[in-house]
Amino acid sequence: MAKTSQAILALAGIDKTYDGAVRPALDRISLTVAPGEFFSILGPSGSGKTTLLRMIAGFERPDVGRVLMDGADITDVPPFRRDVRTVFQSYALFPHMSVLENVAYPLRMAGARKAERLAKARDCLALVSMGDFAARLPHQLSGGQRQRVALARAIVCRPRVLLLDEPLGALDLRLRQQMQHMLVSLQRELGIAFVYVTHDQGEALSMSDRVAVMSEGRIAQLGTPREIYFDPASEFVAQFVGRSNLLPIEGAPHEGSLTALLGGRALPGVMVPRSGPARMAIRFECVRLADAAAPADPTGGEACMLDGTVEDVLFLGNALEVNVRCGDHNIIAAVPTMGGEGFVPGRPVRVLFDPGQATVFHG
Ligand SMILES: Nc1ncnc2c1ncn2[C@@H]1O[C@H](COP(=O)(O)OP(=O)(O)O)[C@@H](O)[C@H]1O
Ligand SMILES: [Mg+2]
Repeated sequence: MAKTSQAILALAGIDKTYDGAVRPALDRISLTVAPGEFFSILGPSGSGKTTLLRMIAGFERPDVGRVLMDGADITDVPPFRRDVRTVFQSYALFPHMSVLENVAYPLRMAGARKAERLAKARDCLALVSMGDFAARLPHQLSGGQRQRVALARAIVCRPRVLLLDEPLGALDLRLRQQMQHMLVSLQRELGIAFVYVTHDQGEALSMSDRVAVMSEGRIAQLGTPREIYFDPASEFVAQFVGRSNLLPIEGAPHEGSLTALLGGRALPGVMVPRSGPARMAIRFECVRLADAAAPADPTGGEACMLDGTVEDVLFLGNALEVNVRCGDHNIIAAVPTMGGEGFVPGRPVRVLFDPGQATVFHG
């Protein structure tokens, strides 16, 4: 087959329904991954992420559609002959082999000589900062260390694509953050494509070049982290990625033009293409709070303004999440903790947001 693009990996029109299932696990999935790209698949549990990864690895066969690698159709190529490795959430190290032997194992299977195997395994252990642990057995390591060994073993043969299925899922927050930094630098250094599966939007946003957001076997949105975060294509994406207020609005004539109304109050500048009910998403951190007595937008812009009363406040460390009752609706604002001391339950406040940061959904 002719090479059709510079994609290292392409999925073309993939459907998969498991035997006995009523809904497809994958429904018309098409995507491409560029060489050296950090590509994430983000979605809730059951959305089809693992099935998609198993399709790329060759453990599942699509009912319909093709898998291409470097332009060649590999749909019928068995897993062990694909230039792909997988790292799972469970580390799956061989318990009776040392760390070094574990990492060298794929090279042994590939028939490499001992000196070469050990040298390459040592190099990979150094890449994941585990050089000092070569002689240990897996049970003598912490979870984070074991996952780094699993990673070293997965890259020792330098696959062109590395698949990672929720690899940080079993680690605590601090370790997850450290591992995120390590994965990003490792990926840069190796230059191989990563396809990274996670249900954690923070992981997907922080590490990826592009993210495919999945819902019920379909791609709900595919874009850069910024596109997905600031320009969600659907209510599902707005809710799943980041934290957003989702408010019922009404497009209606007001002072001579079509205007968005929330509980009868106009939100000037919020674009509604037609009259009738719609929903508006606005991120918590895009909502500002000011003194109720403030005469106008204190930033001097053309902000939307609503008056309300603080209902409750969550302390998140560097930010406060302030829940404000505005008429029949609640709007949550994430404001910096420093300077937010005055936002206490019962206090009247003015809620402000830039209409350009609101996204309106119909239907
Ligand atoms: N081996 C299987 N047999 C039948 N159904 C499966 C199998 N594996 C997964 N499923 C179903 O396919 C859907 C997608 O599952 P999965 O790909 O594991 O999602 P995720 O990894 O996003 O949690 C789910 O509804 C799940 O129950
Ligand atoms: Mg899964």
